[in-house]
Amino acid sequence: MKYVIAANWKMNKTISETRDFLKTFIPMVKGIADVDIVIAPPFTALAAAAEELKGSTVALSAQDMFWEERGAYTGEVAPGMLLDAGCSHVIIGHSERRQYFHEDDAVVNKKITAAHRAGLKVIFCVGESLEEREAGKTFEVIQREVEKGLANVSPDNLVLAYEPIWAIGTGKTASAEQAQEVHAFIRKVLVGLYGSPAEGLRILYGGSVTPENVNTLMACKDVHGALVGGASMKPESFINIVSFKKEN
Ligand code: PGA
Repeated sequence: MKYVIAANWKMNKTISETRDFLKTFIPMVKGIADVDIVIAPPFTALAAAAEELKGSTVALSAQDMFWEERGAYTGEVAPGMLLDAGCSHVIIGHSERRQYFHEDDAVVNKKITAAHRAGLKVIFCVGESLEEREAGKTFEVIQREVEKGLANVSPDNLVLAYEPIWAIGTGKTASAEQAQEVHAFIRKVLVGLYGSPAEGLRILYGGSVTPENVNTLMACKDVHGALVGGASMKPESFINIVSFKKEN
């Protein structure tokens, strides 16, 4: 299975910072064909990023979108607008959207459905908080998020990302065992949903991934890539993650 390494820049980088990053990064990835690389800049830098990425194999993603196609939704961005800006992917259900912007499973499901209808590939995030983990509710939360988020959604053009909230931006990575345990569980939930393990559907790990820990995480049987925040902001750091080596 081809791994996916995706950069989530969150609310960071101006247009010129995005161009500078890509001018350095694109030559670094020449010749790397065995990994799907995705970059998700903020909305304002998408069109400039698309220009820089022309002719490269690096895919462009947005970090969110609205589910309606057009209309009176001040401040929102439609799926077709992302395509127009040059995106092939969109991240949906990131824990920061759920936490700060009150997106629930129903909203996430509507967004995934609308993204697919428009022809966008979706990176769908799930993950438990520290309180939920400590209360022994990790599997229950993950099962609910996966089942509700993916209700009536095709497993095609879909990538999942398991991002334990306590590991995001904290420097506290899940251990390989913790990641593997949840990834294997997600696979089981997918069997329940689709009647098969949806083998082509890749499940990424996210949460304080760095060049130092990426090899160990990518060696887990059911981990097929990474969604990277902080360590994706500098080309030198992100290229070291993209060129991970699987440990045995
Ligand atoms: P982090 O963020 O790598 O900075 O922990 C990951 C994410 O939120 O996608």
